[in-house]
Amino acid sequence: MDISLVDSFVIHVKQALLPNLHCSSIHPRDPVRVQAFPEPWELVGVGNYAAVFSHPEFPSFVVKVYAPGRPGFEEETLVYERLGKHPRFSQYFYGDKPFLILKRINGVTLYDCVHQGVIIPEQVILDVDSALEYAKQRGLRPHDVHGRNVMMLDGRGVVVDVSDFLHHGSMGKSWGDLRWAYYNIYRPIIARFALPIPYSILNLVRKLYQLIRR
Ligand SMILES: Nc1ncnc2c1ncn2[C@@H]1O[C@H](COP(=O)(O)OP(=O)(O)OP(=O)(O)O)[C@@H](O)[C@H]1O
Ligand SMILES: [Mg+2]
Repeated sequence: MDISLVDSFVIHVKQALLPNLHCSSIHPRDPVRVQAFPEPWELVGVGNYAAVFSHPEFPSFVVKVYAPGRPGFEEETLVYERLGKHPRFSQYFYGDKPFLILKRINGVTLYDCVHQGVIIPEQVILDVDSALEYAKQRGLRPHDVHGRNVMMLDGRGVVVDVSDFLHHGSMGKSWGDLRWAYYNIYRPIIARFALPIPYSILNLVRKLYQLIRR
């Protein structure tokens, strides 16, 4: 990767995006709200702790910005350093609290695949299994691997959020649960009929899941 390109992107982030970005995390279990950001930046996605943006002049990168008051920046940089470069993960280029520059994965999250009725092949599940195995071999503890933290790109799975891989905790099961749902609910019912699922139902499932896990 061209280092000067990363530097140039960082300058854009610091001078144009951050001073004009207004985002907040009202509740740690709900997505970050982005109230305003400047053109021509694009909002690629939001998680419960951070918002992710791209810039049309820098198509290889995204910038992940942690919302004020939300932890995870330091852990995520440490995890990426331990993972190194691996095809089943994004890649870390630079970090300066509260933002990280990452490789852009031009895919669709599994969550959005289910919403859009895009079929998720089994290969994606196998890819995530092997990615998490690799992370464990590197001494990490994969956590919080859910439908918005995995993307499908050219029929392959890529894990895009590794922020919780240093943690102990109950969310460690989420990939196991998702895997179970893939084989027992998704493949026999949803994929068979290529059913698109409205966000209202996906959100309800997400809330119910959080409730059961707690
Ligand atoms: N490298 C990437 N390339 C493309 N899109 C990405 C990338 N990283 C993240 N995204 C998008 O941004 C969204 C939010 O990013 P991310 O999951 O890292 O945030 P988070 O707040 O840490 O999430 P969580 O709520 O799981 O803790 C993702 O669901 C995905 O849609
Ligand atoms: Mg996430």
